[in-house]
Amino acid sequence: MKPLQIAIDGPSGVGKSTMAKILSRRLGIMYLDTGAMYRAMALKAIRSGINPGDREKVLTILDNTDIGIEFENGSQKVLLDGEDVTEKIRTDEVSMGASAISAIPEVRVRLVEMQQKIASGSPVVMDGRDIGTVVLPDAQVKIFLTASVKERALRRYREQKEKGILSKTLEELEKEIELRDHNDSNRAESPLRQAEDAVLLDTSHLTIEEAVDKILGIVKAKGFADAL
Ligand code: DC
Repeated sequence: MKPLQIAIDGPSGVGKSTMAKILSRRLGIMYLDTGAMYRAMALKAIRSGINPGDREKVLTILDNTDIGIEFENGSQKVLLDGEDVTEKIRTDEVSMGASAISAIPEVRVRLVEMQQKIASGSPVVMDGRDIGTVVLPDAQVKIFLTASVKERALRRYREQKEKGILSKTLEELEKEIELRDHNDSNRAESPLRQAEDAVLLDTSHLTIEEAVDKILGIVKAKGFADAL
C-alpha cells in the first residue's frame, strides 16, 4: 500500500505549520514544511544583494545554492549552503522575499523535486500552497485551510507581541498578509488554490487543537490512522 500522504494547503498565517506539526506528532509520521525551503532560497537572494522577485538574477544563484533539510528529534532543520538557518528565515523580510521568489518557475521545479523525493517511501504530512495540486496530487488526505485576513493578522500580531518582536501595527500586518495572498494566488506558476478533492476547513473560529482534531477526524474517517 502507498504510504499515507497528508497534504495541507492554505494562505499565509492560517496556522498550517503549527497544525501540521502537531498532527504529524500525533500520528507519529514525518512533517515537511515546504515554505521553509522557499524562505531559505529568499534568504540566499537577500544575502546576495538580489531582489527575490528578479528572475534573471535569481537564476544566476540557483545552481550554486544548496538547500538541505534535516530532521532532529522530529523537528525540521533548514540548511542553506550548510548553515542552519531555521530561525533566520522567520523575519517579515524573508516572508515577503519567499512570496516573490516562489513565483519563479525554475525555483519551484527545483524545490518541488526535492519535496517529492523527501516524501517518497514514508508517510508524511506536508504543508504549503501547492501540495494537494502539484507536489502530492495523489495524497490520500487533502486539507485546505482558510481564515479571514483580520483573524490571521491578529494571530500574527499576538504571536510577535508574545515573542517581543512586534514592530508593526495590526493594520500593517493585515496589508502584508493581503499582499502575500495576492502574490501567492495570482502567480502564473502553481498558484495557491484548493485541490478539487481537498476538504475545506475554515479555522477562523477554531483553536489550533480543535482544528487538529477535525483534521485527525478526517484522517480516521478515511480509515488511514489505523494503518500507521
Ligand atoms: O508557508 P510559508 O509562509 O512559510 O511560505 C513562504 C512563502 O513560500 C509563501 O508566501 C508562498 C511560498 N510557498 C509556495 O509558493 N509553495 C509552497 N509549497 C510553500 C510556500
